[in-house]
Amino acid sequence: MPQLINKRRSLTKRISLQQQENKELKAKLAKLQALANLGKVSAIVAHEINNILMPLGNYAQAALNYPQDQALTEKALKKTIQNSARASEILESIMAMVNGESAEIRRCRLLNIVKEVFSSIGRDFSKDKIKVNLEIPEDMNVDVIPVQFQQVIMNLILNAHDAMKPHGGILTVKACQEKNKAIIIIADTGTGISPENIEKIFEPFFTTKTIESQAERTGSGLGLAFCMDIIEAHNGTMAVQSERGQGTEFKITLPLKD
Ligand SMILES: Nc1ncnc2c1ncn2[C@@H]1O[C@H](COP(=O)(O)OP(=O)(O)OP(=O)(O)O)[C@@H](O)[C@H]1O
Ligand SMILES: [Mg+2]
Repeated sequence: MPQLINKRRSLTKRISLQQQENKELKAKLAKLQALANLGKVSAIVAHEINNILMPLGNYAQAALNYPQDQALTEKALKKTIQNSARASEILESIMAMVNGESAEIRRCRLLNIVKEVFSSIGRDFSKDKIKVNLEIPEDMNVDVIPVQFQQVIMNLILNAHDAMKPHGGILTVKACQEKNKAIIIIADTGTGISPENIEKIFEPFFTTKTIESQAERTGSGLGLAFCMDIIEAHNGTMAVQSERGQGTEFKITLPLKD
């Protein structure tokens, strides 16, 4: 009997040690993902800011060269205001993402969240021949930790974007409310996922975006694993449907508070 008790004690101790280890690993994964996202976003931001600055220099030069051309000067100034506002919008949204983490679940306008993500990606999707369809009711809300949920949407949108390069396609973000649940769907008409890969996509570090696969950019394979973690922490679910060559659809279901 005392032997049994001792065995049980040591088992309980082992379980609690492993639970602690599990918790620490999850925290590490979250940190890694934040860094991976930051790296990704920084590269896109650097690229977009550069795109924004280039025409500014050209316009300013043209205005200086032809000071008597009032229409041209006016256009140059308008473009300057527009582009610098856009640049600070991109930077502000990145800073908010990096600094503004609050672990509180808040009621948020879904459409605003999605628009903010597009703004922080800072990319003109039409330049990549991607048509974006937003079918989200204006007044639809979700109960989420805003920064984390934005990361989920961002990862799914970036994946859809990758899957449609270089040919382009249609990216649809749609949502509806069913009883006490919010349903959000992110669908693309990209490469699709093979049946053998679809089993693995939520595993940390599973990626097909490697140098060998000649992907346009390499991936860390952490995006979807982290999305799943976040959605589960919100007591929601995430499901995927995909057909090779046709496209992919991710469906998120989130509980709504009364
Ligand atoms: N929309 C999609 N269309 C096609 N394949 C996808 C799509 N989303 C995910 N995948 C597949 O799932 C894999 C894992 O995705 P995940 O977002 O976890 O990592 P990643 O995009 O490869 O890298 P990271 O997100 O860390 O930059 C991808 O490499 C890709 O093969
Ligand atoms: Mg990804």
